[in-house]
Amino acid sequence: MSDRFIIPKKLYGREAEVQALLAAFERVSGGSAEMMLVTGFSGIGKTAVVNEVHKARETDAKVEQWKTQILAALGENAQVVVDVIPELERIIDSTLDKRSRTALSLLNGSLSI
Ligand SMILES: Nc1ncnc2c1ncn2[C@@H]1O[C@H](COP(=O)(O)OP(=O)(O)OP(=O)(O)O)[C@@H](O)[C@H]1O
Ligand SMILES: [Mg+2]
Repeated sequence: MSDRFIIPKKLYGREAEVQALLAAFERVSGGSAEMMLVTGFSGIGKTAVVNEVHKARETDAKVEQWKTQILAALGENAQVVVDVIPELERIIDSTLDKRSRTALSLLNGSLSI
């Protein structure tokens, strides 16, 4: 048991606000310009909502970075490793090389004879 009282960092009941800000980020990443104003009484959670958006953006950037690194390291063998570690597909799937897939399905075909 912890001997300290730890207040969780989780944000409650602000999914809609966080989504609205993330959607705006998505739109401006397409080149348009927008300004969002976050208003409310002191302590209502404005800073907390904005911080949550930053966290989500940082996580996206991290996953992108992992994807690049993993694909660079695995190269043509990406699909073989994904077959052993299926969770990896959630990170690298969208950019997985089509040729590796085809090569692997052919290989699977020959192995299953
Ligand atoms: N929905 C929420 N879920 C969990 N914690 C929250 C939520 N909203 C606010 N808090 C917490 O309440 C405290 C005050 O929130 P915050 O500092 O974000 O308010 P603020 O609107 O930025 O205030 P100010 O106008 O004084 O800057 C923080 O500790 C924050 O983590
Ligand atoms: Mg604040």
